[in-house]
Formats: sequence, structure tokens, C-alpha cells
Amino acid sequence: MGNISRRKVLTTGTALGALGALSVATPAWSWSPAGSVAGAGPGADPRWVWDDEADPLVASLLDRGDVPQVNALLRTWKKNGQPLPDGLPADLRDFMERARQLPAWTDQRKLALAVEFNRKRGLYLGVLYGLASGMMSTVIPHEARAVYYSQGGADMKDRISKTAKLGYDIGSLKAYQPDGEMIVTCVKTRLVHAAVRHLLPQSPYWPGAADEQIPISQRDMMVTWHSLPTTVMQKLTDWRVPIPAAESDAFLHSWQVGAHMLGIRDEYIPASWAEANSQAAQVLTPVLAPTPEGIKLADILLSLGAVVDAGILTKPILGSFTRFMLGDQIAGWLRIPREPVWDSLLKVAWGPFIAVREGLLPFPLAPQAYWLFDEFLRKAALLFLSEAGPISIEIPQTNRPS
Ligand code: HEM
Repeated sequence: MGNISRRKVLTTGTALGALGALSVATPAWSWSPAGSVAGAGPGADPRWVWDDEADPLVASLLDRGDVPQVNALLRTWKKNGQPLPDGLPADLRDFMERARQLPAWTDQRKLALAVEFNRKRGLYLGVLYGLASGMMSTVIPHEARAVYYSQGGADMKDRISKTAKLGYDIGSLKAYQPDGEMIVTCVKTRLVHAAVRHLLPQSPYWPGAADEQIPISQRDMMVTWHSLPTTVMQKLTDWRVPIPAAESDAFLHSWQVGAHMLGIRDEYIPASWAEANSQAAQVLTPVLAPTPEGIKLADILLSLGAVVDAGILTKPILGSFTRFMLGDQIAGWLRIPREPVWDSLLKVAWGPFIAVREGLLPFPLAPQAYWLFDEFLRKAALLFLSEAGPISIEIPQTNRPS
């Protein structure tokens, strides 16, 4: 017993030492705006760009003490086509009227096809948003720290369901239509991010590195964006899920519009998957690293399954899926234990499972684990997406208290 604790202490010590060594400098920005939806732009490093419009406005709302009243009013603003509630401060109303407009380059046909894609692929998307994107966010140091030290970090379960709302809204039938909710969710999130930029630097715990004194830069936004659609599409491709080119393009478009609505400048939003992959290779892959905050967040995320279903979504199984999707290095960073049975089952049987599900292999060749995997997909999709219906995203007024 004594030996085990000692070994544990020693391993923890070594790992913490390694964490310091792993924190890497932010790589230089050389991605050209020619590959963006705007097709041109000054090409400034988005590390030093935030949100010119929303940031001063929300800072002023916080300083004026207007946020409780604004949050109360905005709770009633739910649908994209709904008029803004009466009584909002005039400067906020003006901003929101502008911010809720879809960009001129929106292609409604593509958005309609994206809905179709989301309907067909909802099960995979639920698992991928939760376990690929969600877990990846814990090894994006800027994001892990911002989430941990902001108000929402103190109640991760609540925060995760709020974040899942965006994944749910973008994939829902009405998404950007007047009776959908995606525009509302994006505009509110834009306000939340602006509040975090004002609040976090005031936290005594905020360890903001030299290049993140103000959190959530446009570069951070793109990094997180790539942990979502870019990573999801890479996984679907790895798994050989057949996706018609038009649907893949439509899914990208729905996320391009989402990026714009979240306040990302068009000159940073990739115009194609090829451009997205090249930007991700430059800004996402090199920054992935463990942090003490991310390790704690990952542990909370992996424990969520038990709340919904103690049977099929237990922590070891979610951990094994994470290892399968993100690889041994990231699983190791997050201290996810190896699960010999599940790890080898996934390695051997996931490919044939997908092939059978997609009608590429006849059912008699389905792996033994077919129903288990299928049930897992359903339960995990429910956990990460469908639970997110009636949630209201609110502007925070404080940071994490400790
Ligand atoms: C809040 C989505 C990028 C940090 C939120 C919320 C959503 C969201 C839906 C509202 C949920 C809530 O109120 O808890 C997104 C999306 C992003 C993105 C789709 C990129 C495409 C980032 C980045 C960071 C970040 C890059 C940090 C580097 C935060 C924080 C909160 C938040 C700290 C507020 C938590 C709180 O105190 O309540 N985000 N986000 N987000 N986001 Fe993001």
C-alpha cells in the first residue's frame, strides 16, 4: 500500500514536471486570407484580434450593472425570428440587431442540405462532438484554462449542457430558420465570450500566459472551431462513413455561418475542407498539450455518463472511446487508464461495425459487439446532444470563486 502511494506520488510529480516542459509557444500565423470565405483580408495574426464590437459593449454592461436585467430579458428571446425583447439598453439592442443578421454569403440550399446531413448522421455527431471535440477541448490549454477559471468552470455539468446546446441547435431541423434557435445561441454566446474577456483578467487565479492576457482571441476561436467540425469530419472520413461531397460541403457551410455568427472575422474562416485542414494543422495540432485544469475537466466530462446511465456509459468505456478517437498520447496526457478489453474490442470491431451499419458489409459479418456499439452510440448521442433542449445561455458576472 505504502509502495503504491509512493509510486503514485512519484508518477504524479514526474507528470507535473513534464506538463511544464510541454507548454509550447504559440506557432507563427501564416495562413493566407485567400483561403477564407472572404477571399482576402489584411492577414493580421488573429492572436491579437478579439471582438471589437461586442467586447467594449459587454464590458460597459457589466460596469453599468445592467447584466442581471439583460439576462432576465434575454431569457425570453429564444427563436431566430423573434423580435428582441423590449427594454434592452439601446446600445445592446443596436448591436444585437446587427449581430443576428446572417452573412451575405449564406447559402440557404446548403443549410437545408446540412440539416439533412445532421439528421442522417446525428448518432455519430453526438458521440463525436462529445468525445472527440469535447475531450479535445481539455487539451487545448487556452480553452481549458479559460473554462476552468470562469464562472461556468465551477459547475461543469451545467456548462457542458449549455455548450452542447450549440451542437444541438446547429444540427436541429430548423437551425438557422426563423423558428430555429442557432442564431440566438450564437449571438448570446458572442456576448458570453465578450464578458469572459472582461472578467477573466480580473481573476486572481487567472494564469493567462503572455499571449493570452485577454482570453478568447480570434485565433483561439478558430482553434476551438477546428476541434469541432474539422475534427468531426476527419473522424468520419477515417471511419469510412460514406458522405456525399455535397453533404460534406453543406456541413462545412453550416459551421462557417456559425463561426461568422459567433463573431469570427470572415478572413479567418476557411473556405473549404482543404483550407480547414491546413489551418488546423497550423493552429490546432501544435498547441495540444495537457494542463492541470484540462486534466480535471476531462475527468469531470468522463464521469458524466454515469449520471445518465450507469450501465453502458461508465467512465472506463467513455475513456476507452476517447483513447480510440484521440489516440494514446492524448489519453496518456489526460491520465485515462488503459482498458484492455474495451481498447482491443474497439480496435478490432469498430471498423466492421461502421461498415455493417453503413450497409457496406452484410449483416452476418457484423462483429459480436454490434448491438453494444449501437446502444453506446444512442446513449452517448443522448448524453452529449439531446439533453440540451431548454437551456438558457446567460452572460456571466463573475469568475470561478476559487
Ligand atoms: C461559453 C461555444 C470558443 C471559452 C460558451 C458557450 C457556448 C460556447 C455555447 C455558452 C455556454 C455557457 O454559458 O456556459 C463556443 C464555440 C466556440 C467557442 C462554438 C468556437 C467555435 C471558445 C474559446 C474559449 C471559450 C476559444 C477560450 C479560449 C468559453 C468560456 C465560456 C464560454 C470561458 C463561459 C463559461 C462561463 O463562465 O459560463 N462557449 N465557444 N470558448 N466559452 Fe466558448
